[in-house]
Amino acid sequence: MEADGAAAGAAALGQRLAEGGQGHVLRFWPELGAEARRALAAELRDMDVAEINRFFRRARGDGGGAAEVTAAGLDARMQPVPRDVLGSASRDRELLPRWESRGLAEIAGSRVAALLLAGGQGTRLGVPYPKGMYDVGLPSRKTLFHLQAQRLRRLQQLAEEQHGTPCNIPWYIMTSGRTMESTKEFFVKHHYFGLKKENIIFFQQGMLPALGFDGKILLEEKGKVAMAPDGNGGLYRALGAHGIVEDMERRGVQSVHVYCVDNILVKVADPRFIGFCLEKGADCGAKVVEKTNPTEPVGVVCRVDGVYQVVEYSEISLATAQKRGSDGRLLFNAGNIANHYFTTAFLKDVVNTYEPQLQHHVAEKKIPHVDITTGQLIQPEKPNGIKMEKFVFDIFQFSKKFVVYEVLREDEFSPLKNADSQNGKDNPTTARHALMSLHHCWVLNAGGHFVDENGTRIPAIPRLKDANDLPIQCEISPLISYGGEGLEKYVKDREFCAPLIIDEDGIHELVKNGV
Ligand code: UTP
Repeated sequence: MEADGAAAGAAALGQRLAEGGQGHVLRFWPELGAEARRALAAELRDMDVAEINRFFRRARGDGGGAAEVTAAGLDARMQPVPRDVLGSASRDRELLPRWESRGLAEIAGSRVAALLLAGGQGTRLGVPYPKGMYDVGLPSRKTLFHLQAQRLRRLQQLAEEQHGTPCNIPWYIMTSGRTMESTKEFFVKHHYFGLKKENIIFFQQGMLPALGFDGKILLEEKGKVAMAPDGNGGLYRALGAHGIVEDMERRGVQSVHVYCVDNILVKVADPRFIGFCLEKGADCGAKVVEKTNPTEPVGVVCRVDGVYQVVEYSEISLATAQKRGSDGRLLFNAGNIANHYFTTAFLKDVVNTYEPQLQHHVAEKKIPHVDITTGQLIQPEKPNGIKMEKFVFDIFQFSKKFVVYEVLREDEFSPLKNADSQNGKDNPTTARHALMSLHHCWVLNAGGHFVDENGTRIPAIPRLKDANDLPIQCEISPLISYGGEGLEKYVKDREFCAPLIIDEDGIHELVKNGV
């Protein structure tokens, strides 16, 4: 009976797939064992083939106007971010205290949440575990998750100290099918890094099958579809599917800081950014760093036909990328770092109204797959198919009050994308150096000095000139300082020999002189 039932189920599944032109995914069914059949059937049962076909047609530009086909004339339609929606951590220094105290007041009222995008596959980094668990080799050996958790703890403490009320910053963590279990286990193992378990909310984004250029689903194994997360813009569908906006409302959250897992310098729930967005009455904001090199492959925030969006470097001509404004800076200089502010109300509108209008972007990739005719596993040398992804910034277009907040790259942005072996950019070494270089600066700004082994003061030029320059070994626990504050009592008028580590247990280094 049971076998009959299973056979009938497989037949119905086969028919549904065949009707959607995807019947080939059962091609190896007769060769599969019972367990593999069950797993494949379960995977396919949850798959909406008609929807996948529709996504493919829209993404490819048939009968829906694809996001990828908008490039024509883009250069002529682009306008830079106007000054009145722009705030700058370096050019508006006198306003920073006001923004910061507004943000801290909001945090003290438990009205701010952080939302971490951690569903990526991290293929370039190439480790078999989630990127947030990566240890870039800091003296403390803290992972990215650990640093972020401690920044949240410190921020809660700062808000509590200023306002005298206990508060929480709920931390929403989006994972994918591939990263959920190991991420959760990691947090359990580390006792949630000292945060309250009930304030960390894990939820899972959707997955989509990789497709050949003909729209046919690719198989990773004979009994397994090649699935990939649906991009960091899969966030909005996931928010709806898991009732996350309702959870935010229940907790009284009004502002949400959304950020990527891989930026080692990220200022999680940055009170200045939050305060700036609140002062401006924004429903949506983007934190950016100045793009200074026209050929840097970074997307820029700008307006196209009056609507805010991110335009990728590959979508515009070099001449447009090279254009300069009257101040000598690049005209399109608002480099996107996937670091955003949203009001909960805006997210609710996105989930309820706008999300279905978002189209997938198509990324052509080399996708290992099983050849449907021969059953051989193919490792392609050139792109053989596509992955469909939505991007977190795709919703800027729906904002009614959009603002941009510019920060210094060396203070806030150093992403971990590649393995050390791959190239000299955005790898564990550059991430580690960026953090230590920043912390070196904090010590200098708080009145401390570094000396060499002979006691001679080291010139106060801590920034790296090139990837081979070694920074001074200096690491300050986020529990001691969130953004450089409060360090005077540890370092003012003192000389240190690196390595210098300041954490909850005090100062660990070679103190030369207490002046
Ligand atoms: P990237 O686009 O850099 O992708 O993600 P990645 O997965 O980290 O790395 P590669 O491209 O495979 O090497 C930017 C941010 O968006 C998140 C990532 O976790 C990272 O924080 N992301 C990406 C998601 O949350 N979901 C996705 O589907 C894709």
